[in-house]
Amino acid sequence: MEKKKLAIFASGTGSNALNIIDFFKDSEEIEVAFVLSNKQDAKIVTTAPEAGVPVYVFSNAEVEEAGKVLELCFEQQIDYIILAGFLRKIPLSLFLAFPNKIINIHPSLLPKYGGQGMYGANVHKAVLANNEKVSGITIHFVNAEFDKGEIIAQFSCDLVENETLESLQEKIHQLEHAHFPTVIQNTLLQ
Ligand code: GRF
Repeated sequence: MEKKKLAIFASGTGSNALNIIDFFKDSEEIEVAFVLSNKQDAKIVTTAPEAGVPVYVFSNAEVEEAGKVLELCFEQQIDYIILAGFLRKIPLSLFLAFPNKIINIHPSLLPKYGGQGMYGANVHKAVLANNEKVSGITIHFVNAEFDKGEIIAQFSCDLVENETLESLQEKIHQLEHAHFPTVIQNTLLQ
């Protein structure tokens, strides 16, 4: 069987991207072909090549226009696109080229705390402001309505009384690191 090829899109630290790279580095079934970033100064731009995976940086305009991104994905024979902290809208032409083949991770239990403006720390701040007792992560397919694609898996964590932005962020990252690669694996190989 030919290996399934992943492209990971990331804009920031890329701890999820690195974790996925590490998880599949010896896999016979799945390979991370490249990381794409829209930020030249993102940490992942230097750390992914250190882990043996090339990085391509495109401007926001190039991402929106999609032509070069699509060309790269086709050229590299990408099967699935993984969004791991990619802070940019995915253009329609990419959904059309990869129907049900784009997977995102969102740091809340969707449909709660999804939609416009709900990314990164904004999500956790809103969760804390509402005194939620539980939060978590959602791994889902992406469709044209960003946070509304089919949910693949959710995992939750309890919030403690003195939960801070930092402690919640840390809990969420731990959940993401524990589950995102295995959910990708199960989804691709089912
Ligand atoms: C994660 O919490 C992810 O859920 C969100 O952005 C964050 C990215 O973190 N979409 P990292 O760059 O992978 O460390």
